[in-house]
Amino acid sequence: MSEFYFNPWDPVFRADPYPAYRTLVQEPPRLMPLGETIALVARYRDADAVLRNHEHFSSVRPAKLPLAQRGPFAGALTMLTSDPPVHTRLRRLVSRDFTPRRILELEPRIRAITESLLINAVDRGGEFDVMAEIADTLPVMVIAELLGVPADNYETFKRWSDAVVAGAGRTQPWEEPPPEFLEAVAALRSYFAENIEERRRRPGKDLVSALVAAHDDSEALSAEELLALVVLLLLAGNETTTNLIGNGMLALGRNPGQVDLLRRDPALIPRAIEEIVRYDGPVQGTVRFTTAATNVGGTAIPAGAVVFVLLAAANRDPAKFDEPEKFDVTRTPNEHLGFGNGIHFCLGAPLARMEGAIAIGSIIARFPNFRLADPAARPAYKGSFFLRGLTELRMITE
Ligand code: HEM
Repeated sequence: MSEFYFNPWDPVFRADPYPAYRTLVQEPPRLMPLGETIALVARYRDADAVLRNHEHFSSVRPAKLPLAQRGPFAGALTMLTSDPPVHTRLRRLVSRDFTPRRILELEPRIRAITESLLINAVDRGGEFDVMAEIADTLPVMVIAELLGVPADNYETFKRWSDAVVAGAGRTQPWEEPPPEFLEAVAALRSYFAENIEERRRRPGKDLVSALVAAHDDSEALSAEELLALVVLLLLAGNETTTNLIGNGMLALGRNPGQVDLLRRDPALIPRAIEEIVRYDGPVQGTVRFTTAATNVGGTAIPAGAVVFVLLAAANRDPAKFDEPEKFDVTRTPNEHLGFGNGIHFCLGAPLARMEGAIAIGSIIARFPNFRLADPAARPAYKGSFFLRGLTELRMITE
């Protein structure tokens, strides 16, 4: 096997993991002794096969991993970290709130928030930071509204959510998490525990009230599961969409010809969003745990191994995509794995797609000459391999 370097906990590696992916998509999964046996699954067909096989590849975190017990879900099962039948029960409770039709009802509100965020940069002219001025803010405001939490708390949320994501990103699964991570987890959980009690006393039309009713009426959801589900929705709906907007604007800034295509034909924007998720996805990979000895693409993987399903590598597999290194907003078909696949396929995909399309579409419409402030600058990334995103992205707007 060819030599290569793979270390998700090294910031230099994280800044550009794509060279390692190019090696990995050429070969069967590798086993790496990174503390535990880790299998790196990168080829499209291997990654797809793992995602579709929840019997052999479980999403339940082994209890011995500190992050499972001391993370934001405090050991409770969530749909992201469970297998059927628990997964089926938990997902069913919220699936109708995330259908494309339901999400369409949020469109006017998402547009209004986007406009209110962009207006400062429009009035000011000159330069703006895509991350600080829209990408960091829009998703947290939208998910807070959906959950029925006052939007004026969004900065506090964002701080907690960032600390949780960064802490989890820096910690290897078998290590004790750092104190700032544990503090943010405690703050987030106690805020929502109170919020749930408040909704019980004074129900509204929001999602948390609906979930409280599901818990109280039928016990379809335990109290611990209820809290974990609300925290999951906040975390999953936040940083991912932030990074969709940021990674997308970086790709567009580097490919002005693609922006011209979108300007000429805005109907291409939904396809551009799919291409961003394929080309430089906010979620680089996900994790599974083998329930028995198994074989993936010719590699024998023992029971109890950790499997890194490298979605972003699979999304550039030349066996699946023509010219995979090319950013092409007209790409069709585009069957990427950036939202996962199988029973855990991203619940929030319709929401992420709509937020991404509105944010990026509005930036293109508002700033006819936008470009990267410093095309030669090396972009600075936040501290997580699995959730890939920029700390700032400066653009010239005129
Ligand atoms: C571009 C933005 C997003 C990306 C790239 C993304 C990606 C993903 C991926 C890859 C998975 C599968 C994880 C696995 O199989 O282990 C997933 C699951 C999930 N996502 Fe997203 N996501 C995004 C936005 C959102 C939003 C806005 C929400 C809203 C609440 C959300 C909620 C969820 C939930 C609840 C799950 C777990 C589903 C299950 O296990 O059945 N995501 N997402």
